[in-house]
Amino acid sequence: MDIQAIKNRFGIIGSSPALNYALQVAVQVANTDLTVLINGESGVGKEVFSQIIHALSARKHNPFIAVNCGAIPEGTIDSELFGHEKGSFTGAVDSRKGYFETVNGGTIFLDEIGEMPMGTQARLLRVLETGEYIRVGSSKVQKTDVRVVAATNRDLLERTQQGKFREDLYYRLNTVPIRVPALRDRKEDIPLLFRKFSVDFSEKYKTPSIQLDEEARNILVNYPWRGNIRELKNIAEQISVLSSDKLVTANDLKRFLPDQPEVNRLPMLAAPQQSNDFNSERDILYKLFFDMKKDVTEVKKMFFDILQNPTMAHTAEYHADNHVLHSYPAASEMNTPASPGLNNAQPIILSDNKIDHHEEVEETLSIADKEKELIVKALKKHKGKRKDAALDLGISERTLYRKLKEYNIAE
Ligand SMILES: Nc1ncnc2c1ncn2[C@@H]1O[C@H](COP(=O)(O)OP(=O)(O)OP(=O)(O)O)[C@@H](O)[C@H]1O
Ligand SMILES: [Mg+2]
Repeated sequence: MDIQAIKNRFGIIGSSPALNYALQVAVQVANTDLTVLINGESGVGKEVFSQIIHALSARKHNPFIAVNCGAIPEGTIDSELFGHEKGSFTGAVDSRKGYFETVNGGTIFLDEIGEMPMGTQARLLRVLETGEYIRVGSSKVQKTDVRVVAATNRDLLERTQQGKFREDLYYRLNTVPIRVPALRDRKEDIPLLFRKFSVDFSEKYKTPSIQLDEEARNILVNYPWRGNIRELKNIAEQISVLSSDKLVTANDLKRFLPDQPEVNRLPMLAAPQQSNDFNSERDILYKLFFDMKKDVTEVKKMFFDILQNPTMAHTAEYHADNHVLHSYPAASEMNTPASPGLNNAQPIILSDNKIDHHEEVEETLSIADKEKELIVKALKKHKGKRKDAALDLGISERTLYRKLKEYNIAE
């Protein structure tokens, strides 16, 4: 089947060679009964691969079920997968069929397989090798015909070395490995995905679709995206909702990206389309100028805050610490001649016009309010679990922690 047709059918965006290769393997293996292990970082889109494999197989009219092994308590996972007999454990008031029984003839997607308890792994190995399983609390061996597709964002081989994953099961599962590439390894797909999500969210929120200017696009493409597509989607949603301006500049974008040093160091240098020395040098100068302008605005804001409200002095210092000082790429990192006095340049430009700076303050505060609101909402949604809230917000836990302090949010 044509790869493009599959992308259309399953809503997959991207055309990088690594993604195409992964899809090609999925298509080739779909119509066999081989076990497939899908590997890739969190948020790369592993789940859709299991659906493709099922939908293109001879089992497509039979059931498909996705089971998240990391979300089922250790005490009940055996019973969920293989069923149990009445009275086999406290609370087992009835007998129950497991998924390997109900999905007979179909496909089971075992997501987060790396989290599966060792005891369950032994049962799984048996069913994979012989098609046999036993309900919990029973002694009767039953037969089933289920195709298993598994996924993990962990290094399973490392888990086997730590004694947390059975080596025999690892090799049995890994009959056909599919590696779904991280977003940073298919940078060419980032603008496409961002555009798709912007359009989706503009429809959802009935707002005009956002667009990135050239520099913002460079930052987006060179950002490390540790949360991959999930994180990109989250950021696109936040910007769609919160950005007052539909043309998003680098400065606007940076407000939404978790504070990671790579962002400040790489953008222009790692930009793929640098054609000649003149261009790249001009880009670097432009970048330095741009960063200086941003920092000047921040310093002005800081002073404005202090003038308005002297008791805020220490908050302003905090801002200076986190945004202004860290946002300079070190001259050595930028691989350019050192710019003497760059850091010292701030106070000199401080006497600049006040009007512009007043506007900036107004806008920043409203974004901050919205940001605070979103953080509080996310924490509430995830019952105070910072890790989950940070994932949902598309920021790192460290950034969330900093923002909690910055906004003085009590948990
Ligand atoms: N190529 C793609 N085009 C458009 N959207 C995608 C694509 N790949 C993934 N997505 C979207 O990205 C999000 C993350 O995908 P998914 O949940 O499959 O990640 P995952 O690899 O299973 O991550 P985890 O290991 O954390 O479970 C989903 O909302 C999915 O719809
Ligand atoms: Mg998943």
